[in-house]
Amino acid sequence: MDILLIGSGGREHAICHGLKKSKLAGKIYCAPGNPGMAKIAECVNIPSDNESIAAFAAEKNVGLVVIGPEAPLCQGVADAVRAKGIPVFGPSKAAAQLEGSKDFSKAFMMKYNIPTAAYASFTDQESAENYVRSEYAAGRGVVVKADGLAAGKGVIVASCLEEALEGVRECFSGAFGNAGYRVVIEELLEGEEASILALTDGKSIIPLVSSQDHKRQLDGDKGPNTGGMGAYSPAPVVTPELLAEVQKSVLDNFLRGIQTEKLDYRGIIYAGIMLTKNGPKVLEFNVRFGDPETQAVLTRFDGDLADTLLKTANCELDKAELVWSSDPAVCIVLASGGYPVSVDKGHEIRGIEAAEADGAIVYHAGTVLKDGKLLNHGGRVLGVTARGRNIEEAVKNAYEAASRISWQGMQYRSDIAKRAFNR
Ligand code: AMP
Ligand code: GLY
Repeated sequence: MDILLIGSGGREHAICHGLKKSKLAGKIYCAPGNPGMAKIAECVNIPSDNESIAAFAAEKNVGLVVIGPEAPLCQGVADAVRAKGIPVFGPSKAAAQLEGSKDFSKAFMMKYNIPTAAYASFTDQESAENYVRSEYAAGRGVVVKADGLAAGKGVIVASCLEEALEGVRECFSGAFGNAGYRVVIEELLEGEEASILALTDGKSIIPLVSSQDHKRQLDGDKGPNTGGMGAYSPAPVVTPELLAEVQKSVLDNFLRGIQTEKLDYRGIIYAGIMLTKNGPKVLEFNVRFGDPETQAVLTRFDGDLADTLLKTANCELDKAELVWSSDPAVCIVLASGGYPVSVDKGHEIRGIEAAEADGAIVYHAGTVLKDGKLLNHGGRVLGVTARGRNIEEAVKNAYEAASRISWQGMQYRSDIAKRAFNR
């Protein structure tokens, strides 16, 4: 079976790597893919509109389309491909609103009793500002969120009233485009965060192994938020008891919700969860695999990925066999100088082969090939991922591999997964 994979990040490289190992997979097309994916698949440049992608899938007679990022899902690529009778791993446009609109997502959570922060939603700036002031007057902190997709930005975790008001103004000033003209203001939650990813075909819902990412740029969780500086799996904070609670209060209610609302959801649901002292609460839903969590999670998957994704696409998830290695995995993100504020790009990357010599995998995210040279081209450039018999060994393996890679300005955190050591 030939497969079309949409996307070009580290997450998609990890998915591609998993598909490549599958007995079921024939040719893999990646649109647009990246230089790492080009080594194991055929990268194709097709226009990103729904019809062009669906037409390509039909013309190449692929047996499965896998959609990586949220943007094509929110744009309705899954619907267009399904209309041609081709199985798709990825939710419909209507279902993708669970990520594409914070307001839609919060209303869904409220309706189906999924624990989440209290919130209010506004389309005019003055009411939003008044609400923020009243929350602070009542002694509560807030988080300001632009309603729509804002490429990982658009969430302001305010540390004081002024910052919250500034966040509201930023949204309504057009800083996040149309995404910001509706604003969700949420109760500020405290606790440790964990990511629970689950496969669903609308009939059943099955969690993957747990993971945790590191969103801040610097060691000790300091510095600005980023797309993710590293991840590890499993996350010891997700105990069997906690997972059972999340299954019941989040995943089961989620499944009931998409069934009742008749949302065509065949893909992955990512619940970002805050472990508060009043129990786990959902911060957000993503309708796609996490990045860089996927690099760590799929590195532990020993089942047949193409078969699993196809069964999900065909509503036969109950027949899929999910096989996981008990070995933990760690992904260290190597980022460009200047990230996340700016990106110092165009420098030659050296040492990837050496890094992979002892079994680590280097997933590409922000690289480009120019005149035969591999250059850094994005904020997050590579995800160096390794397994080990325990988390300490996985960390050691990943850092040893990472130390063999270099380019001018390269930066990475030195404490990925360390918070898992003491548990
Ligand atoms: P989101 O894109 O909604 O997950 O928000 C991005 C990040 O902002 C999360 O990973 C949290 O670290 C933080 N965040 C979001 N919502 C809240 C909240 N209600 N309370 C505290 N932190 C939050
Ligand atoms: N790692 C966070 C995300 O994928 O949204």
